[in-house]
Amino acid sequence: MLPPNGRVPEGIDPSDIPAHVACVMDGNGRWASQRGLPRTEGHAAGEEALLDTVNGALDLGIRWLTMFAFSTENWRRPADEVRYLMGFNESLLMRRRDELNDKGVQILFAGRRDWRVPRRVLRRMDESIALTRDNRRMTLTMAFNYGGRAEIVDAVRALVTEGVVANKIDERAIRSHLYYPDQPDPDLVIRTSGEYRISNFLLWQLAYSELVFTDVLWPDFRREQLFEAVAEYQRRERRFGRVKQ
Ligand code: IPE
Ligand code: IPE
Ligand code: MG
Repeated sequence: MLPPNGRVPEGIDPSDIPAHVACVMDGNGRWASQRGLPRTEGHAAGEEALLDTVNGALDLGIRWLTMFAFSTENWRRPADEVRYLMGFNESLLMRRRDELNDKGVQILFAGRRDWRVPRRVLRRMDESIALTRDNRRMTLTMAFNYGGRAEIVDAVRALVTEGVVANKIDERAIRSHLYYPDQPDPDLVIRTSGEYRISNFLLWQLAYSELVFTDVLWPDFRREQLFEAVAEYQRRERRFGRVKQ
C-alpha cells in the first residue's frame, strides 16, 4: 500500500511498509538520571518522541501503531511515579487528542480497565475513543495497564464464560477473544534503551514479529529512528516456518 502523502524517505521501499508496528517505549528514567533530573522528567520528555513517531508512521503509511505506555507490572513502581504516570497520560490525551484527530488517527486502548486506573483517566480514554472513532488513516493503540499474560487470561475467561467446549478452543477461538481481534499481528516490534526483552508485551501477537532493538533512550527517539527500524525490517527475511522460496 502506498502512503497517502508519498513522503517515504530514501532507503525505504514503499511497497514493503509494515502494516502494524509496535513499540516498547523504554528508557525514560535513565534519560532523566543522565541529566540529574527526576525520573518523571523522562516521562514528560517522552511525549515529543511519541508524537514524532506517530507523525513518522503517518508519513510511511503505517496502518496500525501500538505503543506500550504502562504495564500491569508498572504498578510495582513507587507510588509517586505511578501517580505521576496516571496524571501525565491523562493530560497527554487532553493536550494531543485534537491534533491526532485532525490527522485522521483513531485512538484505542489495550489493557485492563480495573479499579487501579483512576476514573478520570478512564474518562479521558473514553472521550478520546469517541472523538476519533471514525478516523481510518491510522489506528494508534495505547497499551495501558496492559499485560500480554493478562490479555490471554481474559480471552480464556471469556471463552469459559460463553460456555465454549474444550474441543472448540483453538488458536482462532483465542485470537477472536483478544482485545482487538481484527488488528493484524505486529510485523515489527521496536524496543528502545538497549534492553533485550519483551516485558509482557503482546505475547500472543508477536509470535512471528520481527524484533528491532535500539540503544536510543525513548525520549531521544524520533521518526528517523523509526525509519531506521523499518529499513532494518525490510532487510529481514520472514519465513513463518517455511523454507526460502
Ligand atoms: C519507560 O521508561 C516508561 C514506562 C515504563 C512507563 P522507564 O520508566 O522504564 O525508564 P527506565 O527503563 O527506568 O530507564
Ligand atoms: C516495559 O518497560 C513497559 C513499558 C514500556 C510501558 P519496563 O521498563 O517496565 O520493563 P522492564 O521492567 O525493564 O522489563
Ligand atoms: Mg524501563
